[in-house]
Amino acid sequence: MDFQDLSFTNAPLIKVNPPGPRSKDYLNYQSSREGSAVSYPKGMPMALRRAKGATVEDVDGNIYIDFFGGAGVMMVGHSNPEVIQAARDQLAELTHALDFPNPSRRKLVEALSEVLPDGLDRVFFGGPTGSDAVETAAKLARYNTGRYPMIAFEGSYHGMTAGALSLSSGLFFKEDFLPLLPEVHFVPYAYCYRCPFSKRPETCDLDCAKYLDHILEDPHSGVGKPAAVIVESIQGEGGSIVPPEGFIPKIREICDKHEVLMIDDEIQAGLCRTGKMFACDHTNTIPDIMTMSKALGGVGFPISCVAYKEKLDTWPAGKHIGTFRSNVVACAAGAAALNFMVENKLAEYALNLGAKMLSMFKELEKDSKIVGEARGKGLMLGVELVKDKATKEPAPELAKRVRTLCHQRGLLIEIGGHYFNVARFLPPLVLTKELAKKGIEIFADSIRDVENYR
Ligand SMILES: Cc1ncc(COP(=O)(O)O)c(C=O)c1O
Repeated sequence: MDFQDLSFTNAPLIKVNPPGPRSKDYLNYQSSREGSAVSYPKGMPMALRRAKGATVEDVDGNIYIDFFGGAGVMMVGHSNPEVIQAARDQLAELTHALDFPNPSRRKLVEALSEVLPDGLDRVFFGGPTGSDAVETAAKLARYNTGRYPMIAFEGSYHGMTAGALSLSSGLFFKEDFLPLLPEVHFVPYAYCYRCPFSKRPETCDLDCAKYLDHILEDPHSGVGKPAAVIVESIQGEGGSIVPPEGFIPKIREICDKHEVLMIDDEIQAGLCRTGKMFACDHTNTIPDIMTMSKALGGVGFPISCVAYKEKLDTWPAGKHIGTFRSNVVACAAGAAALNFMVENKLAEYALNLGAKMLSMFKELEKDSKIVGEARGKGLMLGVELVKDKATKEPAPELAKRVRTLCHQRGLLIEIGGHYFNVARFLPPLVLTKELAKKGIEIFADSIRDVENYR
């Protein structure tokens, strides 16, 4: 299928250098009344008017190519007509139902059952955000094992609520709030560009995964036997990091060996983003518990869910609750979005388009003095910026300048990574080849300009 009609056909279109006068008015009002932690409008100053497919329009009439996708939510494209119709139909019928069964909830569970890895037979809806799903998963693991410690990975991001934040590695988000939950330990992820063991992926024999085995085995590692290991099968906020093929299966093997549960956080990488329905499908690894959110609500309706093995379904009724345990409109939209993904083979499309885009970013890596590494899978891509390719000194300031230039030229991108030096691309999966090419040209020009005038 050609997704051309889903986006604005005239993108990118910059009528007035952003932020234009209308945007400025909104931004000024926002900063006069809202809290100082508001962040995205500080990196890409504009107010939004509407969005379609893989394009976004601001209130001044500028139209951008969207490589940001609402932080990875918008798989089926902004305002996807099939999803909007399903949401509209639901709005007219029923909008709030706690956890009472209803037709849209059932449709979503049925649609999920078709695509979830074998053995993840139970789904449970907690609060509406990804963080809520992570809290649920950790609590479920602790309840079932009777153990408290948890292991997470360097570079992880699992959310902002106390438990999820404890499992996230970024100190920027939590250093002023420590201590959070005790007994959370971090181990190295397979971040091969900056391997903490100074190894090469071709010859390392997965020393990073083996380190997890070591701390679980050694009575003097200082780490109590955990309830679970939580991992992103492909890391998102950590900088679009794709581990070598054996890494995730090895984590599974180590968890089994030590009888520790494995939680796979698919909130960002799941639902076709990386070219498979779930990132763990790339290695046929089945976790004990999986978290989902972001694209699960179709076009940004908030909802989250955990899927887990039948044997873990031990909670008595009411053990984990919340007022917004799956929003009905989000269920209707999510079911329609899953249908759209399957019918349009969106995972396959993302895999192919992502491979083409990655090869263009790899060209840039060869030519540019500030591109340390281009990487990713499907349409979860990233370009890590450095001051010097030999020393790999991170270049967060250059990343910010590239983002600003991209914005001014009609392209929206995200910044992430350990050092906030990775330009991240999470476009709607209905991005056309033409928009992809134009977007990469804008990015490449911006890189060249930043490189030449730094
Ligand atoms: C892998 C992962 N887990 C959890 C979260 C937290 O989700 P939310 O922001 O909806 O709480 C995110 C958000 O970016 C994420 O990428």
